[in-house]
Amino acid sequence: AKPVTVNTLRKFKREKHKFCCVALYDAPMSAMAQKTGIEVLLVGDSLGMTVLGYDSTIPVTMEQMIYHVEAVKRGNSKSLIMGDMPFMTYATPEQAMTNATRIMRAGAHMVKLEGGAWVADTVKMLADRGIPVCAHLGLTPQSVNKLGGFRVQGRKAEQAEVILNDAIALDKAGADLLVLECVPQALAKEITDAVSMPTIGIGAGGETDAQVLVINDILGLTEQPPKFSKNFLVETASIPGALMKYAEDTRSGAFPSEEHIFV
Ligand code: KIV
Ligand code: NA
Repeated sequence: AKPVTVNTLRKFKREKHKFCCVALYDAPMSAMAQKTGIEVLLVGDSLGMTVLGYDSTIPVTMEQMIYHVEAVKRGNSKSLIMGDMPFMTYATPEQAMTNATRIMRAGAHMVKLEGGAWVADTVKMLADRGIPVCAHLGLTPQSVNKLGGFRVQGRKAEQAEVILNDAIALDKAGADLLVLECVPQALAKEITDAVSMPTIGIGAGGETDAQVLVINDILGLTEQPPKFSKNFLVETASIPGALMKYAEDTRSGAFPSEEHIFV
């Protein structure tokens, strides 16, 4: 198979071929994801919680992100690799350009950042200069203190409208992907239909163009797993089997099922 590019993902969206993304952090898991044909890898700043033991993503540094992007890159030559921009490393467009450059040089093909219309100018500046951007709306964990907890976003009509308008603004600014986290399925569908970039859902129902899960949740390493996640190791009894089942169930639409979806 050829390496996955932004064009591959747009084609999947046009052809309504669901694809999958896994957030993971090291070379052996990255190599296994390549073998499984996982299209997109996210080196998420979730690593602050899943690997480093912090209680949020806020302490994560550029150095930690670079260390893990390099490791994931060494394990894989086919998947499209996204690297998260940590908290407050893209507060201004200039900061974003400097820090996104470092993540790209570490081996990422795309950077991901959280936020709505306020990051649209930054997204455009990065895109114009050759750095693809994945936007992230809904529950944006770097804002957990401002949101008052890890909770579903966009249940009220006005809040849903803000998220939809943010998505449209980011699409126009040139974002190439959009993560939608913990929003009602109906809102995720409305956004997916309204934007040209593919959408990747986590706790966003089954109508997005793709799904993303964190490897720790797929493998049952999380003590209190979120409602939207699924332990695929239980029914497969091997790590490659669990990854393959996640990929198959995402592509067929079997995952997520009703119990994982917010309304
Ligand atoms: O950091 C991460 O793993 C993420 C995903 C949960 C989307 O941002
Ligand atoms: Na993240």
